[in-house]
Amino acid sequence: MSLSSLKPQVETILSNSDKTLDERLLSVCQLLDQEVSYYNWVGFYFKNGDKNELKLGPYVGEPTDHTIIPFGKGICGQVAVSNENFIVPDVAAQDNYIACSITVKAEIVVPLFVNGENVGQIDIDSNTPDPFTEEDERFLEYVCEQVAKLLA
Ligand code: SME
Repeated sequence: MSLSSLKPQVETILSNSDKTLDERLLSVCQLLDQEVSYYNWVGFYFKNGDKNELKLGPYVGEPTDHTIIPFGKGICGQVAVSNENFIVPDVAAQDNYIACSITVKAEIVVPLFVNGENVGQIDIDSNTPDPFTEEDERFLEYVCEQVAKLLA
């Protein structure tokens, strides 16, 4: 299955004005979790007001204790300051990593920009080692761009 084939469904979900923003984001998480076998935890983090920390938004997967992540901490916190995609093929090899579940082998985090400002990110954990490619990066950048349009 090509990830690009999910784009129309992402657009349909995000354009549903009968739902709140969080409901739409949750539906996107559910879609990605259901349709991509190696996406095993899918969630959004957003900058928490004026604080230099991330707050967990809608997600699908095991509940996590890490609902607040300071900038710089873990993969998510690093992306909040680097403004760059971060692929971790093997989480066990990362120093600055916050473990949420022992089943997780790999992670990808892609920042979400509104008017050039890094306001959040999509975070995906995989139970499969080293599954993420540039195709995931391009697709998740697309998802973040679509979400950004609702936040602008
Ligand atoms: N592993 C992340 C923390 C968030 S959980 O994956 C849900 C990190 O290192 O920032």
